[in-house]
Amino acid sequence: SFEQSLRPQTLRQYIGQDKVKANLEVFIEAAKMRRETLDHVLLYGPPGLGKTTLAAIIANEMGVNLRTTSGPAIERPGDLAAILTALEPGDVLFIDEIHRFPRTIEEVLYPAMEDFCLDIVIGKGPSARSVRLDLPPFTLVGATTRAGSLSAPLRDRFGVLSRLEYYNERQLTDIVVRTAELLETEIDWLAAQELARRSRGTPRIANRLLKRVRDFAQVRGNGAVEETLAKEALELMQVDRLGLDHIDHKLLKGIIEKYRGGPVGLETISATIGEESQTIEDVYEPYLLQIGFLQRTPRGRVVTEAVYRHFQMEVPER
Ligand code: ADE
Repeated sequence: SFEQSLRPQTLRQYIGQDKVKANLEVFIEAAKMRRETLDHVLLYGPPGLGKTTLAAIIANEMGVNLRTTSGPAIERPGDLAAILTALEPGDVLFIDEIHRFPRTIEEVLYPAMEDFCLDIVIGKGPSARSVRLDLPPFTLVGATTRAGSLSAPLRDRFGVLSRLEYYNERQLTDIVVRTAELLETEIDWLAAQELARRSRGTPRIANRLLKRVRDFAQVRGNGAVEETLAKEALELMQVDRLGLDHIDHKLLKGIIEKYRGGPVGLETISATIGEESQTIEDVYEPYLLQIGFLQRTPRGRVVTEAVYRHFQMEVPER
């Protein structure tokens, strides 16, 4: 699809995550030289940083098919068996949200990962028996926002563990410029930089904002994305100077206004602002922690002085 063609297809085209990329380059090259399957890879880190893209690139660089599923999509052992037995030798099986893979089915996954075989039970009751099926060798690429939620035995079966990090402003600017070229949209460097600054270190957000700002440029301007127009469009979309959106604001102001800046527990925040605690923890908190707006203490979350300054509020005496 067009959406997919916006994504980089090779490690060379992929901007940022330099350490992850440099390592994968070596592991891929070595596996190809030995004519072996690449070891299983676990990609972890906040959403939107390119885990799915990297899985597709790994398959492409290895010259094999990419098969995609997700942890919650596997409900019964048969679901997994159907996917595994349809693989061709060397294929990449991408399991997104692997921390939500059912614990009861993990036992089916272990021998598949380790020995490329599948133990299945045929029949019921006293006549039930177990048969072992050989599978083609494959590479499991797992993605998760929370590596700590994987069981130790599952985590231990990955040969490569790669943590994705937030992108810096320069990398995001380069990504915005690249995507604009693919969209055949003119953009100035300063406009691209502004989008980069307001994307919370996240390419998925940068590219989404680019598309919306491009809409404004088309309707309100001459089609070219320039700095002033970009800033106006971002204000209208309620994306502030640091890229914080409506929900970030609700979260931070909620802690300030209802709990005097904290400490307050995650579940309490969740109930107060009406967002799922899992979403707060996986999507919103990591960036707020990264920029030093939020701290985790044993007694709960605390906002920092930087938040009061950002909202031009008086910093309270502690
Ligand atoms: N588009 C989204 N993420 C990207 C990346 N890391 N490099 C290049 N283009 C991208």
